[in-house]
Amino acid sequence: MDIKLRRASLATRPVGLLAVGVSEGAPRLTGAARDLDRATRGALSALLKTGDFTGRHLETALLYPRGVKARRVLLVGLGRADQSNEQRMLLAAGQATKRARDLGAGTLALALNSAAALDEATARAIAEGAMLGHYRHTAYRRDGRAPLTRIDMLSPAPADGVAAAVEQGARRGEAVCLARDLANTPGQDLVPETLAAHAREVAKRCGAKVTVLDVAAMERLGMGCVLGVGRGSAHPPRFIVLEAAPPRPAKRGGKVPTVVVIGKGVTFDTGGYSLKPREGMSKMKYDMSGAAAVLGLFAALPTLDPRVRLVGLIPSAENMVSSRALKPGDVVRALDGTTIEVTNTDAEGRLLLADALGYARRFDPETVLDLATLTGAISIALGRAAAGLFTRDDGLAAELEDAGEAVAERLWRMPLWDDYLVEMKGETADLVNSSERREGGACAAAAFLEHFAKGLRWAHLDIASTAWTFADRADSAKGANAFGVRLLVRWLERRSEG
Ligand code: BES
Ligand code: MN
Ligand code: ZN
Repeated sequence: MDIKLRRASLATRPVGLLAVGVSEGAPRLTGAARDLDRATRGALSALLKTGDFTGRHLETALLYPRGVKARRVLLVGLGRADQSNEQRMLLAAGQATKRARDLGAGTLALALNSAAALDEATARAIAEGAMLGHYRHTAYRRDGRAPLTRIDMLSPAPADGVAAAVEQGARRGEAVCLARDLANTPGQDLVPETLAAHAREVAKRCGAKVTVLDVAAMERLGMGCVLGVGRGSAHPPRFIVLEAAPPRPAKRGGKVPTVVVIGKGVTFDTGGYSLKPREGMSKMKYDMSGAAAVLGLFAALPTLDPRVRLVGLIPSAENMVSSRALKPGDVVRALDGTTIEVTNTDAEGRLLLADALGYARRFDPETVLDLATLTGAISIALGRAAAGLFTRDDGLAAELEDAGEAVAERLWRMPLWDDYLVEMKGETADLVNSSERREGGACAAAAFLEHFAKGLRWAHLDIASTAWTFADRADSAKGANAFGVRLLVRWLERRSEG
């Protein structure tokens, strides 16, 4: 779908829906809202006078006024002007496109303010939000509302640079939607090899190099964990490596730091012989949401100018039951030589990440992040309001927390104490992959990972609590929401500014 900035007045554009933002409280009618009120001879002031619509953030009202060429007009509350920020504007734009799609409006115009009131960051946020709110996963249904064919962002006199910002926001939104589509795809249609094919596609479009390690290559390297987890499936595991073209160093002879981002890519998690209960097992198609976030980040790279060499690692496997599958008590050897007794085949994500953390060292990374739908326990701890953040590095924690706060992908810091690792020490092997106790499960998993991340500047994001939602939101539909893509984009963006 196409989003374009157009220099046009809101009254003259023939569209299915015209959306206009209205602030809460004084001053009431400014910018586009005032233009609309004039064009419709006071339709908006009349509505406000009734008190039925106050401009509260994300509140909506539908009007069918004379005086504009649009078939309908949607007022979207922007909230109080003094609380306005990019994220709130993004959500308001998402609310507009969501309603437009539900109405089957066909085409949408978003009325923006004039040059003085419309900076590039706001325009970018609106375009991105428009894409996000419009998103639906439609690959498997025939009765859904048709997508919009066009979105016009109308501004009477846009400043230079605003059109480019709109383009950038739209591309970022598309990158998020790509990650959502991947995560929403059923396990039958997304196996490790398919995920690798998508990675190749993304890499081609963003000019990154991609290497896909197959079983033979992983055997040569000694990735016993990925191989073990993937052993029970007819669809063999893959280890996907993406490397973005490095930027030029700031000074001659200078070194560009490397950032490695790892995404858990379990395309379906039955639990293996430590079988999951039947309730909710279908949700385990989302168990590659970390991988999807990494691919979304790479898809968004053309809109960024990162001053780092970016490497993406995706260990991918399908966790199945079969005569070849891992059995509880089996021992695997990780890339770094650590032996692990698989006491629970359902704790497969940490096994994949163990090999990936070992592989990350090859790049002499400045920072390593991993995103994984790792434990049900993180939702017990935090509900669905935040993902868990585990790191020993206070500076990195602050950077990630700030980025998450700015894009409303909230992180909450969790402890990484040695106490948790004690539970993960093995008798048969160096470590066990699951302790006997359920308490503090997210922390125990993180402590296990830290064994493989020793000495690295590393953070682990347990996104099992946030990777999908059970209800629509202004900027996402029920299902996978690609949590992490926007956070990572913002984090890299801020790093480049600093
Ligand atoms: N993919 C799951 C974690 C998960 C559970 C994500 C529910 C989203 C919702 C992971 O592989 C897993 O099964 N973890 C186990 C760990 C346990 C066996 C120590 C869990 O959380 O139960
Ligand atoms: Mn599992
Ligand atoms: Zn899993």
